[in-house]
Amino acid sequence: MGIEAGGLVEQGRDPHHSKVNVVGGHNHHHHVGYMRSKVIKKRKYCSRNRKVKHSDSDSDSALQQVFVSCRDVFKGLGTVPLPHHVHKLCSILDKLRPEDVGLSSDMQFFKPKNEVKGTPRVTYTTIYQCNNFSLCCFFIPATGVIPLHNHPGMTVFSKLLLGKMHIKSYDLVDPINNSDASQLRLAKLKADSVFTAPCNSSVLYPTTGGNIHAFTAITPCAVLDVIGPPYSKQDGRDCSYYKDHPYAACSNAAGTEEEGDCYGWLEEIEVPENSEMDGIEYLGPQIIETI
Ligand SMILES: [Fe+2]
Repeated sequence: MGIEAGGLVEQGRDPHHSKVNVVGGHNHHHHVGYMRSKVIKKRKYCSRNRKVKHSDSDSDSALQQVFVSCRDVFKGLGTVPLPHHVHKLCSILDKLRPEDVGLSSDMQFFKPKNEVKGTPRVTYTTIYQCNNFSLCCFFIPATGVIPLHNHPGMTVFSKLLLGKMHIKSYDLVDPINNSDASQLRLAKLKADSVFTAPCNSSVLYPTTGGNIHAFTAITPCAVLDVIGPPYSKQDGRDCSYYKDHPYAACSNAAGTEEEGDCYGWLEEIEVPENSEMDGIEYLGPQIIETI
C-alpha cells in the first residue's frame, strides 16, 4: 500500500474521451494505495474475474451486490432502467464504503496536506466493463476538475466515496434539437452543491435532457461512476464537453432572479487541454461473474 504510480507506462482508454492516452513521463505522482508502478497491459475486460454458477446475495460483498444489481438495471442499448431497479442500485451504492473497492482515507492520496504540483491530473481505474455497463472510479486531487461533459443515451450513477467535491449538473431544455453544435443551448441546473463523503449516490437519466455534469474536488476525492451503456464512439455515444455561461448574461428575457439561478447557457467546446486522465490498474476486491 502507498506505492506511488509514477512511471506508469500505459495505453489507457480514457472513459470520458474515448481516445487513447499515453500515460507516463509526467512529473506528478499519485498516491492511491493500490496503484503500483508497473506496466498495465491492455487486457480483455473481466478476464481476471472468476466465473461461478451461482450468486448468494446474502453473502455477496458490497461490490458484488453493485454488480448483480447493475445487471438488472442495465439491459442494453435503448432500454431505460426501471424505477425499482434504479432504487435498488441507489440503495446499494448509498451504503458502499471506500474499503469495498480497496480504498481508505488513510491512503496518502487522500491526506489534506498531499500537495499537488502543477495542474492536478485526474486518474481513473476501471473496476469492471461489459457491453451494458461500466464501473469506473475517478481519483481527483484537490482543486482538480472533471469539466462539464455529457453522457448521451446513458444512465449515470455517481457515488462519492472519499473527500469533498462540488458537483454541478444540467439537463438540456431541448435535448433533441442539437443540429448546430456552435449554438448556445439552454440548460436547467439540476445540482450545484458540495458533497462530502459519506453521502448518498446521485443519478443522471438519459431521458431528462443530456445529463451533463462536472466535478470539482475541494479535497482529494474518489468517486465511483456506474454508467450504462458505456461510452462508445462507434455507437454514437462519444463525450462532448461544455462551458456554462450565466443565464442572465446571455438572455434578453425578463426573468426573475430565481429563474436565472436555475438555468444556464451551455457552449459545446473542444476537449479541454487539462482534462486528460491517467489510467491505472484496479487492484481492489474483484467482481465474480456469476451466470
Ligand atoms: Fe460523467
